[in-house]
Amino acid sequence: MIISFMAVKKKTQRVLVIHGPNLNLLGKRETGIYGKKSLTQINAEILALAKDLGLDARTLQLNSEGDIVEAIQKDNYDALIINPAAYTHTSIAIRDAIAAVEKPAIEVHLSNIYTREDFRKKSYIAGVAAGQISGFGPDSYLLALRAAKTILSR
Ligand code: DQA
Repeated sequence: MIISFMAVKKKTQRVLVIHGPNLNLLGKRETGIYGKKSLTQINAEILALAKDLGLDARTLQLNSEGDIVEAIQKDNYDALIINPAAYTHTSIAIRDAIAAVEKPAIEVHLSNIYTREDFRKKSYIAGVAAGQISGFGPDSYLLALRAAKTILSR
């Protein structure tokens, strides 16, 4: 009798991290609110933690709404982490794109949007996200990555 075993290699889960408008200016922009770390530094921390968690992460910074919608529509990731920045408070198009692709999405903010101006308290994204992490500075992204790992391991 021949018994053969097939090694089943588990596919590495892919996480797309999108940074929205003006986040390319991190480190220089309103440092009292957003901190002194540059986006390059934050991305390095995201990629290092992703590696530790066994995730394949890719980061993108996009200033325009249409580019963000197009990136969300591409089928090249398993979970999305998104800081939609100012589009959080205005964009039905980004909300609809997230709803359309039916992949888990985690909304991230460096600042606590609920302790700031009233117009920041409304998120169009929260209703279609698996969850929202707001107020932990760059660590918000790292917490989101851990949440993505949990969701993708289910
Ligand atoms: C932000 C909060 C938004 O209100 C703002 O427009 C941003 C950054 C944050 O990460 O705290 O650009 O998303």
